[in-house]
Amino acid sequence: MHYRRFSIFFVGIASLVTSCTTAFIDEGTVGELPPITRIVTYEADIRSVMTNNCITCHAGPAPNADLDLSNYQNVRFSAESGGLISRMNNAASPMPPSGILPPAVRQLIDKWAADGFPEN
Ligand code: HEC
Repeated sequence: MHYRRFSIFFVGIASLVTSCTTAFIDEGTVGELPPITRIVTYEADIRSVMTNNCITCHAGPAPNADLDLSNYQNVRFSAESGGLISRMNNAASPMPPSGILPPAVRQLIDKWAADGFPEN
């Protein structure tokens, strides 16, 4: 009786742990996504990522870290020569600070870099 109840409990815990682990791996892995085959551009893809996730802090008269991500030149500069790509992929110190973005978003940034940071 008690043993039976315990095993049901144990199976419940085990499947909870397994599902969380699987979800975590799926969330973190850009390499498991199908590759993007089209060209990624600032206007079509990257501007909205910045608008949705970054410019509340990185725009306006006093942007955080003196980094204004509200235009093509600055986003390109930070991606090409600064910390934009590494911070967006840094789980220990992510940008945005609230948590690393889903792999599909980070994959867009990586492809934009691979394509040479086109504007249009
Ligand atoms: C809630 C506010 C907030 C949001 C949203 C945010 N940042 Fe930041 N960001 C900061 C702060 C504060 C710092 C400075 C402290 C630090 O480096 O952690 C910073 C620093 C950075 C740096 C390092 C700057 C440097 O000079 O090395 C980069 C790159 C960056 N952010 C990119 C981004 C990107 C890209 C996004 C969106 C995907 C983003 N941030 C979203 C607050 C934010």
